Amino acid sequence: MYVCLCHGIRDRDLRDAVTRGCDSFEALQAHTGVSTCCRTCEPTAREVLEEALASRAPAVQAA
Ligand code: FES
Repeated sequence: MYVCLCHGIRDRDLRDAVTRGCDSFEALQAHTGVSTCCRTCEPTAREVLEEALASRAPAVQAA
């Protein structure tokens, strides 16, 4: 689904960015541009970020 209509960013794009190392909302903004215009998408983008960080946690612990 599209999270950020201003920049055409999907939830998948945000999860990919987390996989590549984004571990904060600010890093996600810098890397993808999400929530840098009207910011309507910020709550949803933060939810996707938290879910992605939570789901990658077991892999980090196992490493
Ligand atoms: S919808 Fe994301 S900045 Fe506008």
